[in-house]
Amino acid sequence: MTTRPHIDFAATSHESYARSLKFFWKETPYRAVVAEAAASGANDVDSLEGSMRPSPAYQLYGWLERRAQQVKYQGRWGMAPTLEPQGERLREILDQGAALQPGRLHLDPNMEMPAYVSDTDIHQLAGGVWDTDVSAFVYEWATSAVSFSMLDPATPLNWYGELMRERFAPAVVLDIGCTAGASTRALKRAMPEAEIHGCDVSAPAVRLAHLRSVEADLAIDYWQMNGEDMSFEDGRFDLVTSHWLIHEVPPSALRRIMAEGRRILRPGGTFAMYDMYLTPGGTIDAWLLDGYAARNNEPFTQPIRNLDMEQELTAAGFTDIRIELSGLQATPEVLSGELPDSRTHYMSVITATAPE
Ligand SMILES: C[S@@+](CC[C@H](N)C(=O)[O-])C[C@H]1O[C@@H](n2cnc3c(N)ncnc32)[C@H](O)[C@@H]1O
Repeated sequence: MTTRPHIDFAATSHESYARSLKFFWKETPYRAVVAEAAASGANDVDSLEGSMRPSPAYQLYGWLERRAQQVKYQGRWGMAPTLEPQGERLREILDQGAALQPGRLHLDPNMEMPAYVSDTDIHQLAGGVWDTDVSAFVYEWATSAVSFSMLDPATPLNWYGELMRERFAPAVVLDIGCTAGASTRALKRAMPEAEIHGCDVSAPAVRLAHLRSVEADLAIDYWQMNGEDMSFEDGRFDLVTSHWLIHEVPPSALRRIMAEGRRILRPGGTFAMYDMYLTPGGTIDAWLLDGYAARNNEPFTQPIRNLDMEQELTAAGFTDIRIELSGLQATPEVLSGELPDSRTHYMSVITATAPE
Protein backbone atom coordinates (compact mmCIF):
# COMPACT_ATOMS: atom_id res chain seq x y z
CA MET A 1 0.00 0.00 0.00
CA THR A 2 1.27 3.45 -0.85
CA THR A 3 2.06 5.70 2.10
CA ARG A 4 1.56 8.84 0.01
CA PRO A 5 -1.65 10.86 -0.03
CA HIS A 6 -3.75 10.75 -3.17
CA ILE A 7 -3.17 13.89 -5.22
CA ASP A 8 -5.26 14.07 -8.37
CA PHE A 9 -4.63 15.93 -11.62
CA ALA A 10 -6.70 18.97 -10.61
CA ALA A 11 -4.75 19.37 -7.34
CA THR A 12 -1.42 18.88 -9.11
CA SER A 13 -2.39 21.50 -11.69
CA HIS A 14 -3.47 23.87 -8.94
CA GLU A 15 -0.11 23.41 -7.22
CA SER A 16 1.60 24.14 -10.50
CA TYR A 17 -0.45 27.33 -10.81
CA ALA A 18 0.57 28.41 -7.27
CA ARG A 19 4.21 27.69 -8.09
CA SER A 20 3.96 29.69 -11.34
CA LEU A 21 2.63 32.66 -9.39
CA LYS A 22 5.68 32.44 -7.17
CA PHE A 23 8.06 32.15 -10.11
CA PHE A 24 6.44 35.19 -11.73
CA TRP A 25 6.56 37.14 -8.41
CA LYS A 26 10.28 36.56 -7.99
CA GLU A 27 11.14 37.98 -11.44
CA THR A 28 9.32 40.98 -13.02
CA PRO A 29 7.45 42.42 -9.98
CA TYR A 30 10.54 41.93 -7.80
CA ARG A 31 12.81 43.74 -10.27
CA ALA A 32 10.33 46.65 -10.59
CA VAL A 33 10.15 46.94 -6.79
CA VAL A 34 13.92 46.87 -6.35
CA ALA A 35 14.40 49.55 -9.03
CA GLU A 36 11.80 51.83 -7.42
CA ALA A 37 13.09 51.20 -3.91
CA ALA A 38 16.65 52.01 -4.99
CA ALA A 39 15.46 55.24 -6.64
CA SER A 40 13.40 56.27 -3.59
CA GLY A 41 16.44 57.38 -1.63
CA ALA A 42 14.96 55.92 1.58
CA ASN A 43 17.72 54.40 3.67
CA ASP A 44 16.02 52.53 6.46
CA VAL A 45 13.36 49.83 6.48
CA ASP A 46 10.54 51.97 7.91
CA SER A 47 10.98 54.89 5.52
CA LEU A 48 11.31 52.47 2.60
CA GLU A 49 8.01 50.88 3.55
CA GLY A 50 6.40 54.32 3.89
CA SER A 51 7.64 55.57 0.54
CA MET A 52 6.84 52.34 -1.34
CA ARG A 53 3.27 51.76 -0.09
CA PRO A 54 1.64 53.87 -2.86
CA SER A 55 3.63 52.00 -5.55
CA PRO A 56 1.46 49.71 -7.75
CA ALA A 57 4.53 47.55 -8.39
CA TYR A 58 5.01 47.03 -4.63
CA GLN A 59 1.30 46.42 -4.10
CA LEU A 60 1.35 43.73 -6.81
CA TYR A 61 4.56 42.21 -5.43
CA GLY A 62 3.22 42.09 -1.85
CA TRP A 63 -0.17 40.75 -2.84
CA LEU A 64 1.33 38.04 -5.06
CA GLU A 65 3.68 37.04 -2.26
CA ARG A 66 0.78 36.61 0.16
CA ARG A 67 -1.71 35.21 -2.31
CA ALA A 68 0.55 32.54 -3.83
CA GLN A 69 0.80 30.91 -0.38
CA GLN A 70 -2.97 31.06 0.08
CA VAL A 71 -3.53 29.52 -3.34
CA LYS A 72 -1.08 26.76 -2.44
CA TYR A 73 -2.79 25.78 0.81
CA GLN A 74 -6.44 26.79 0.42
CA GLY A 75 -9.29 26.92 -2.07
CA ARG A 76 -11.08 24.09 -3.83
CA TRP A 77 -7.87 22.36 -4.95
CA GLY A 78 -5.44 23.69 -2.32
CA MET A 79 -3.24 21.28 -0.37
CA ALA A 80 -5.29 21.39 2.85
CA PRO A 81 -8.73 20.81 1.25
CA THR A 82 -7.21 18.09 -0.96
CA LEU A 83 -5.81 16.17 2.00
CA GLU A 84 -8.49 16.81 4.64
CA PRO A 85 -10.96 14.20 3.28
CA GLN A 86 -8.08 11.68 3.44
CA GLY A 87 -7.52 12.28 7.17
CA GLU A 88 -8.54 8.80 8.29
CA ARG A 89 -6.30 7.09 5.77
CA LEU A 90 -3.39 9.36 6.62
CA ARG A 91 -3.80 8.50 10.31
CA GLU A 92 -3.75 4.78 9.42
CA ILE A 93 -0.58 5.33 7.41
CA LEU A 94 1.08 6.97 10.43
CA ASP A 95 -0.22 4.21 12.75
CA GLN A 96 1.33 1.59 10.48
CA GLY A 97 4.57 3.56 10.40
CA ALA A 98 4.63 3.74 14.20
CA ALA A 99 4.43 -0.05 14.38
CA LEU A 100 7.65 -0.34 12.34
CA GLN A 101 10.82 -0.09 14.42
CA PRO A 102 8.79 1.32 17.34
CA GLY A 103 11.91 1.68 19.49
CA ARG A 104 13.02 4.58 17.30
CA LEU A 105 9.86 6.66 17.78
CA HIS A 106 9.56 8.49 21.12
CA LEU A 107 6.28 10.33 21.63
CA ASP A 108 5.38 12.39 24.69
CA PRO A 109 1.62 12.76 25.03
CA ASN A 110 2.15 14.98 28.09
CA MET A 111 4.35 17.50 26.37
CA GLU A 112 2.99 21.01 26.66
CA MET A 113 2.78 22.74 23.30
CA PRO A 114 4.42 26.18 23.28
CA ALA A 115 1.80 28.89 22.59
CA TYR A 116 3.99 30.42 19.87
CA VAL A 117 3.52 27.19 17.90
CA SER A 118 -0.12 26.41 18.68
CA ASP A 119 -1.33 30.01 18.28
CA THR A 120 0.46 30.84 15.03
CA ASP A 121 -1.00 29.92 11.64
CA ILE A 122 2.55 29.66 10.40
CA HIS A 123 3.06 30.34 6.66
CA GLN A 124 -0.70 31.10 6.56
CA LEU A 125 -1.42 27.40 7.08
CA ALA A 126 -4.48 27.33 9.35
CA GLY A 127 -3.56 25.43 12.53
CA GLY A 128 0.14 25.35 11.58
CA VAL A 129 1.93 22.00 11.32
CA TRP A 130 1.61 20.77 14.89
CA ASP A 131 -1.86 19.47 15.53
CA THR A 132 -3.24 17.13 12.87
CA ASP A 133 -2.00 14.23 10.78
CA VAL A 134 -3.24 16.07 7.70
CA SER A 135 -1.12 19.14 8.50
CA ALA A 136 2.06 17.03 8.63
CA PHE A 137 1.35 15.67 5.14
CA VAL A 138 0.41 19.16 3.89
CA TYR A 139 3.74 20.48 5.16
CA GLU A 140 5.62 17.60 3.55
CA TRP A 141 3.92 18.31 0.22
CA ALA A 142 4.44 22.07 0.46
CA THR A 143 8.14 21.82 1.19
CA SER A 144 8.77 19.33 -1.58
CA ALA A 145 7.91 22.06 -4.11
CA VAL A 146 10.17 25.12 -3.65
CA SER A 147 12.45 25.99 -0.72
CA PHE A 148 12.51 29.37 1.05
CA SER A 149 15.68 30.20 -0.82
CA MET A 150 13.78 29.52 -4.10
CA LEU A 151 16.10 26.62 -4.89
CA ASP A 152 15.22 23.03 -5.53
CA PRO A 153 14.49 21.86 -1.95
CA ALA A 154 16.94 18.95 -2.00
CA THR A 155 19.87 21.21 -2.88
CA PRO A 156 20.18 23.23 0.37
CA LEU A 157 19.32 20.18 2.49
CA ASN A 158 22.10 18.09 0.97
CA TRP A 159 24.52 20.99 0.94
CA TYR A 160 23.95 21.62 4.65
CA GLY A 161 24.34 17.94 5.59
CA GLU A 162 27.66 17.79 3.72
CA LEU A 163 28.84 21.03 5.33
CA MET A 164 28.18 19.66 8.83
CA ARG A 165 30.12 16.48 7.99
CA GLU A 166 33.08 18.30 6.42
CA ARG A 167 33.43 20.87 9.19
CA PHE A 168 32.60 18.90 12.32
CA ALA A 169 32.50 15.15 11.51
CA PRO A 170 30.16 14.58 14.47
CA ALA A 171 29.40 11.10 15.82
CA VAL A 172 26.14 11.97 17.62
CA VAL A 173 23.77 14.58 16.18
CA LEU A 174 20.45 16.18 17.16
CA ASP A 175 18.28 18.06 14.62
CA ILE A 176 15.85 20.33 16.53
CA GLY A 177 12.59 21.21 14.73
CA CYS A 178 12.81 18.28 12.32
CA THR A 179 9.17 18.42 11.07
CA ALA A 180 8.76 15.51 8.60
CA GLY A 181 12.48 14.75 8.83
CA ALA A 182 13.76 16.18 5.52
CA SER A 183 16.73 17.87 7.25
CA THR A 184 17.34 14.90 9.55
CA ARG A 185 17.47 12.44 6.66
CA ALA A 186 19.88 14.74 4.80
CA LEU A 187 22.17 14.68 7.85
CA LYS A 188 22.01 10.89 8.00
CA ARG A 189 22.70 10.55 4.27
CA ALA A 190 25.73 12.82 4.64
CA MET A 191 26.93 10.98 7.77
CA PRO A 192 25.76 7.35 7.54
CA GLU A 193 28.02 6.26 10.39
CA ALA A 194 26.72 8.89 12.82
CA GLU A 195 23.99 8.38 15.41
CA ILE A 196 21.26 10.80 14.32
CA HIS A 197 18.26 12.08 16.28
CA GLY A 198 15.48 14.49 15.31
CA CYS A 199 13.02 16.24 17.60
CA ASP A 200 9.93 18.35 17.11
CA VAL A 201 7.03 19.51 19.26
CA SER A 202 4.54 18.13 16.74
CA ALA A 203 3.55 14.47 17.19
CA PRO A 204 2.15 14.06 13.63
CA ALA A 205 5.35 15.56 12.17
CA VAL A 206 7.56 13.23 14.22
CA ARG A 207 5.42 10.23 13.26
CA LEU A 208 5.68 11.13 9.57
CA ALA A 209 9.44 11.70 9.91
CA HIS A 210 9.77 8.23 11.47
CA LEU A 211 7.79 6.58 8.66
CA ARG A 212 9.82 8.28 5.93
CA SER A 213 13.12 7.30 7.57
CA VAL A 214 12.04 3.68 7.90
CA GLU A 215 11.00 3.70 4.25
CA ALA A 216 14.36 5.19 3.24
CA ASP A 217 16.18 2.62 5.39
CA LEU A 218 17.83 5.36 7.45
CA ALA A 219 18.31 4.56 11.14
CA ILE A 220 17.18 7.73 12.93
CA ASP A 221 15.57 8.24 16.35
CA TYR A 222 12.72 10.74 16.52
CA TRP A 223 11.50 12.46 19.67
CA GLN A 224 8.45 14.56 20.36
CA MET A 225 10.25 17.13 22.44
CA ASN A 226 10.48 20.88 22.95
CA GLY A 227 13.99 22.16 22.19
CA GLU A 228 13.62 24.54 25.13
CA ASP A 229 13.40 21.71 27.63
CA MET A 230 14.90 18.39 26.51
CA SER A 231 15.21 15.14 28.42
CA PHE A 232 18.64 14.27 26.97
CA GLU A 233 21.47 13.98 29.47
CA ASP A 234 24.27 16.55 29.68
CA GLY A 235 27.04 16.20 27.08
CA ARG A 236 25.11 13.67 24.95
CA PHE A 237 25.75 15.23 21.49
CA ASP A 238 28.64 16.35 19.27
CA LEU A 239 26.39 18.51 17.11
CA VAL A 240 23.06 20.15 17.95
CA THR A 241 21.66 21.70 14.82
CA SER A 242 18.48 23.25 13.46
CA HIS A 243 17.42 23.78 9.87
CA TRP A 244 14.81 26.55 9.37
CA LEU A 245 13.74 26.45 13.02
CA ILE A 246 14.86 29.71 14.56
CA HIS A 247 12.75 32.12 12.49
CA GLU A 248 9.70 30.31 13.90
CA VAL A 249 10.44 30.89 17.59
CA PRO A 250 10.46 34.09 19.67
CA PRO A 251 13.81 35.34 21.03
CA SER A 252 12.97 34.18 24.59
CA ALA A 253 12.45 30.61 23.31
CA LEU A 254 15.61 30.76 21.18
CA ARG A 255 17.59 31.72 24.29
CA ARG A 256 16.26 28.64 26.10
CA ILE A 257 17.05 26.44 23.06
CA MET A 258 20.61 27.81 23.06
CA ALA A 259 20.96 27.12 26.79
CA GLU A 260 19.64 23.58 26.35
CA GLY A 261 21.91 23.07 23.33
CA ARG A 262 24.89 24.12 25.41
CA ARG A 263 23.89 21.70 28.19
CA ILE A 264 23.45 18.63 25.97
CA LEU A 265 26.62 19.26 23.93
CA ARG A 266 29.87 17.62 24.96
CA PRO A 267 32.74 20.05 25.58
CA GLY A 268 34.05 21.03 22.15
CA GLY A 269 30.73 20.17 20.49
CA THR A 270 28.99 22.41 17.94
CA PHE A 271 25.73 24.34 18.03
CA ALA A 272 24.58 25.17 14.48
CA MET A 273 21.64 27.06 12.99
CA TYR A 274 20.64 27.39 9.32
CA ASP A 275 18.08 30.11 8.71
CA MET A 276 17.26 33.56 7.36
CA TYR A 277 19.41 36.01 9.34
CA LEU A 278 21.95 38.01 7.32
CA THR A 279 20.53 40.42 4.73
CA PRO A 280 23.46 40.88 2.32
CA GLY A 281 21.36 42.99 -0.08
CA GLY A 282 21.35 45.83 2.47
CA THR A 283 18.27 47.88 3.46
CA ILE A 284 16.18 46.77 0.47
CA ASP A 285 16.82 43.11 1.29
CA ALA A 286 16.03 43.67 4.98
CA TRP A 287 12.81 45.49 4.06
CA LEU A 288 11.76 42.69 1.66
CA LEU A 289 12.48 40.06 4.30
CA ASP A 290 10.49 41.88 7.00
CA GLY A 291 7.63 42.38 4.53
CA TYR A 292 7.69 38.72 3.55
CA ALA A 293 7.54 37.71 7.22
CA ALA A 294 4.52 39.95 7.84
CA ARG A 295 2.73 38.81 4.68
CA ASN A 296 3.40 35.13 5.35
CA ASN A 297 2.46 35.03 9.04
CA GLU A 298 5.95 34.53 10.38
CA PRO A 299 5.85 36.85 13.38
CA PHE A 300 9.26 35.91 14.79
CA THR A 301 11.36 36.32 11.66
CA GLN A 302 11.89 40.03 12.24
CA PRO A 303 12.72 39.85 15.98
CA ILE A 304 15.14 36.98 15.30
CA ARG A 305 16.79 38.91 12.44
CA ASN A 306 17.25 41.86 14.78
CA LEU A 307 19.02 39.82 17.46
CA ASP A 308 22.74 40.25 17.91
CA MET A 309 23.52 36.55 17.46
CA GLU A 310 27.14 36.88 18.54
CA GLN A 311 26.06 38.44 21.80
CA GLU A 312 23.27 35.88 22.33
CA LEU A 313 25.56 32.90 21.74
CA THR A 314 28.27 34.38 23.94
CA ALA A 315 25.71 34.91 26.73
CA ALA A 316 24.67 31.25 26.32
CA GLY A 317 28.31 30.24 26.98
CA PHE A 318 29.51 29.49 23.45
CA THR A 319 32.79 30.47 21.82
CA ASP A 320 34.20 30.49 18.23
CA ILE A 321 31.05 32.06 16.85
CA ARG A 322 30.85 32.14 13.08
CA ILE A 323 28.02 33.80 11.12
CA GLU A 324 28.12 33.52 7.35
CA LEU A 325 26.00 33.42 4.25
CA SER A 326 25.11 30.00 2.89
CA GLY A 327 27.86 28.87 0.54
CA LEU A 328 25.16 28.17 -2.07
CA GLN A 329 24.31 31.85 -2.23
CA ALA A 330 27.60 33.56 -1.46
CA THR A 331 28.36 34.62 -5.04
CA PRO A 332 30.78 37.57 -5.54
CA GLU A 333 27.82 39.83 -6.53
CA VAL A 334 25.91 38.95 -3.37
CA LEU A 335 28.96 39.39 -1.16
CA SER A 336 29.52 42.85 -2.64
CA GLY A 337 25.97 43.80 -1.58
CA GLU A 338 24.35 43.62 -5.02
CA LEU A 339 20.80 42.31 -5.11
CA PRO A 340 20.27 39.42 -7.52
CA ASP A 341 18.04 39.56 -10.61
CA SER A 342 15.38 37.42 -9.00
CA ARG A 343 14.12 37.24 -5.43
CA THR A 344 15.74 34.79 -3.07
CA HIS A 345 15.74 34.41 0.68
CA TYR A 346 19.30 34.39 1.83
CA MET A 347 20.16 31.64 4.25
CA SER A 348 22.79 32.00 6.95
CA VAL A 349 24.89 29.38 8.68
CA ILE A 350 25.58 30.24 12.31
CA THR A 351 27.88 27.99 14.31
CA ALA A 352 29.37 28.11 17.81
CA THR A 353 31.41 25.85 20.05
CA ALA A 354 30.65 24.58 23.55
CA PRO A 355 33.92 25.30 25.38
CA GLU A 356 36.13 22.47 26.68
C1 LIG B 1 10.22 25.19 9.23
S1 LIG B 1 10.01 23.79 10.20
C2 LIG B 1 11.58 22.97 10.11
C3 LIG B 1 11.83 22.22 8.86
C4 LIG B 1 12.76 21.04 8.92
N1 LIG B 1 13.90 21.21 9.77
C5 LIG B 1 13.22 20.73 7.50
O1 LIG B 1 14.31 21.13 7.16
O2 LIG B 1 12.44 20.14 6.74
C6 LIG B 1 10.01 24.27 11.90
C7 LIG B 1 9.60 23.14 12.84
O3 LIG B 1 10.02 23.51 14.15
C8 LIG B 1 9.10 22.98 15.08
N2 LIG B 1 9.29 23.69 16.35
C9 LIG B 1 8.91 24.95 16.66
N3 LIG B 1 9.31 25.26 17.90
C10 LIG B 1 9.96 24.17 18.39
C11 LIG B 1 10.60 23.87 19.62
N4 LIG B 1 10.64 24.74 20.62
N5 LIG B 1 11.15 22.65 19.78
C12 LIG B 1 11.12 21.73 18.79
N6 LIG B 1 10.51 21.96 17.60
C13 LIG B 1 9.95 23.16 17.40
C14 LIG B 1 7.74 23.16 14.41
O4 LIG B 1 6.78 22.27 14.93
C15 LIG B 1 8.09 22.89 12.94
O5 LIG B 1 7.85 21.53 12.64
